[in-house]
Amino acid sequence: MSRYLLITSDTGFARRLDAAATGELAGEIHHWNDPVFPRQPEVLFAGQRNTSRPEVVILGPGTAMEESLSLASALDHSHPEVSVLLVHPGGADIVLAAMRAGIRDVLDPGAEATDVTALLHRAVRSAADRRSAFTALPGTADPGVKGRVISVLSPKGGAGKTTVATNLAVGLAASAPHATVLVDLDLQFGDVANAMQIAPEQSVAEAVSGAATQDTMVLKSYLSPHPTGVYVLCAPDSPAAEAQITAANIGHLLDQLASQYSYVVIDTGAGLSDHTLAALDKSTDYVFVAGMDVPSIRGLRRELDVLKELGMVPPSRHVVLNGADPRDGLSMPDVETTLGHKADIVIPFSRAARLATNQGTPLLQGTPKDRATKELRRLVERFIPAPAPKRKRLSKARHRRGMP
Ligand SMILES: Nc1ncnc2c1ncn2[C@@H]1O[C@H](COP(=O)(O)OP(=O)(O)OP(=O)(O)O)[C@@H](O)[C@H]1O
Ligand SMILES: [Mg+2]
Repeated sequence: MSRYLLITSDTGFARRLDAAATGELAGEIHHWNDPVFPRQPEVLFAGQRNTSRPEVVILGPGTAMEESLSLASALDHSHPEVSVLLVHPGGADIVLAAMRAGIRDVLDPGAEATDVTALLHRAVRSAADRRSAFTALPGTADPGVKGRVISVLSPKGGAGKTTVATNLAVGLAASAPHATVLVDLDLQFGDVANAMQIAPEQSVAEAVSGAATQDTMVLKSYLSPHPTGVYVLCAPDSPAAEAQITAANIGHLLDQLASQYSYVVIDTGAGLSDHTLAALDKSTDYVFVAGMDVPSIRGLRRELDVLKELGMVPPSRHVVLNGADPRDGLSMPDVETTLGHKADIVIPFSRAARLATNQGTPLLQGTPKDRATKELRRLVERFIPAPAPKRKRLSKARHRRGMP
């Protein structure tokens, strides 16, 4: 049965909703009649007789706009499987603000009964789709399951770590919406915020101190949502903040995030700082990035050797060569011999990649058809579980004969 939570003191609308929620849309409707309502979903749900979560929350006529948008954003963040509808006469600015807050649809208070029914249909179906997508994901279905933690690293600066990390996160979010978090662990000069046009209110500095360290709900509220469905934890504004953050802080932060998200992608600063080593210690995957030049390749070889000496051999590692240009005079067999490792992905030099950085729009957010985009997609696919092979249908004859 579908379940709804209607927030309004408008009894006329409550009756119309009752009338619309029939047939396959029938289900319990909980009412919050008080014009004052909590902005935090947990407090709102705890105030219900039946504490199981609703599938659809309807912000009915007369609800204060600021509170409504704030509650909708919080629901979008912490309970993305819940569909939220806003009942409001609308206007372009309201619809835009509603969309940004993750509201599914805006319904005119005077809408015909058939329109109310159609919107409820959409909301219930979308809630069901989202629920099934979420229960299929590790880290959301079972709190004991940890998500995949992917560190992107390189021995040298400017190799393309941020380009790879941001695109990887965007690509993964396309297959696991709202289940991917990107952490900027380039704590002194991180530029994920610029690369994704985010103006964060909180950063890693706040996430590793105070209430967020004890409560994942608080931690989640420190993440910045990106339109692609990625949540981002940006680097601190001031390079000085790095000194206050310990390696143990990073380990704890990544444990918390991996318990909540299917994919935790980490962008790092150049080299092997204590913070990067702490991230590697928690990572299931290392993505090594190197430029296509001799110093970069040699540097990467040394980094691979050092990690091996430290006993840091991840379950899965991926080597990305970035900015490849055939005119540079390096042959792939020579590069692989020097590296002692096969190149898994080779991203060509691309003007579109530079433009994307300058514009703050990761390549995979748009649809440029250049070869760099194609290689970045290949990298993303390495992390997406392949669909189960289709089982061949047994022929009727075999079936009848009861053959295995
Ligand atoms: N395949 C590519 N072709 C052309 N330019 C690229 C490519 N990949 C990255 N770049 C550009 O190179 C510059 C450095 O890239 P990026 O910031 O991703 O490197 P980084 O390793 O994160 O650097 P830092 O160590 O400073 O954090 C950016 O301007 C980016 O647009
Ligand atoms: Mg960077």
